[in-house]
Amino acid sequence: MNAFFFVAWPYVAWVLAIVAGIYRYFTARYTYSSLSSEMLASRSLFWGSVSWHYGIIPILLAHLLAGVFPSAAAAAVSRPGALLGLEVVGLALAFLSILGIATLIGRRLGTRSPLRRETSGMDWVLLAVLALQVVTGAGIALFVRWGSRWYPYTAAPWFWSIVRLDPDPAKVAALPGFVQLHFVSGFLLIALFPFTRLVHLVTVPVTYLWRPYQIVSWLGRRGAGRSPMP
Ligand code: HEM
Repeated sequence: MNAFFFVAWPYVAWVLAIVAGIYRYFTARYTYSSLSSEMLASRSLFWGSVSWHYGIIPILLAHLLAGVFPSAAAAAVSRPGALLGLEVVGLALAFLSILGIATLIGRRLGTRSPLRRETSGMDWVLLAVLALQVVTGAGIALFVRWGSRWYPYTAAPWFWSIVRLDPDPAKVAALPGFVQLHFVSGFLLIALFPFTRLVHLVTVPVTYLWRPYQIVSWLGRRGAGRSPMP
């Protein structure tokens, strides 16, 4: 079991994400987004999306920084005050993301919601795995203390062993089952990346910085003859 999930699975997930991601980009480039559902239920989208993104982005940045710089992360939480502060902020952000994902799921679930019809099987799979991920994450923070202390000595060296192409499952083998589930479903999200609306992550509109201005012009009688430019 460990040999598959902590040795092969991370590579399977990355290969799927990269190969299928490139394939989708070249065969269906205009689907590289998270299709908007704003017109179908805008208020719940606003609150769900804001809580979700404001909660999850800092948490993922913290995961990434602690993985890339484990010694600095361990030093940063060596004082009890700093450890407690970080854990409290982490947990508050986790609750914010749980509230966000619950709202995003709820707005699609309503029996009278027009959105329900527009929700694909893959949308449901993605929402379920994201919900599992944040709930197990908050569970770890609450019940397997103190994550920010043991992460630099378990998950981080395991990540690096994967990067060095010499995976060492022993680093995470002794962790409780639901902590391991959090790691495995973390890689499931990477594998799902090209098959779901998660692809919008690579469409952050940085090209807006250098692309030419869009020319917008009025159509119809009201705008006849009016220039959009000042
Ligand atoms: C394999 C990749 C991952 C590993 C090794 C990992 C590891 C961890 C660990 C050790 C904690 C406990 C931190 C603490 O108690 O302070 C945690 C918490 C958390 N994780 Fe992950 N995680 C991974 C991927 C993800 C992903 C992809 C998401 C979200 C999409 C996520 C969401 C969370 C959340 C919401 C928390 C609770 C917030 C906190 O207290 O820090 N994790 N994760």
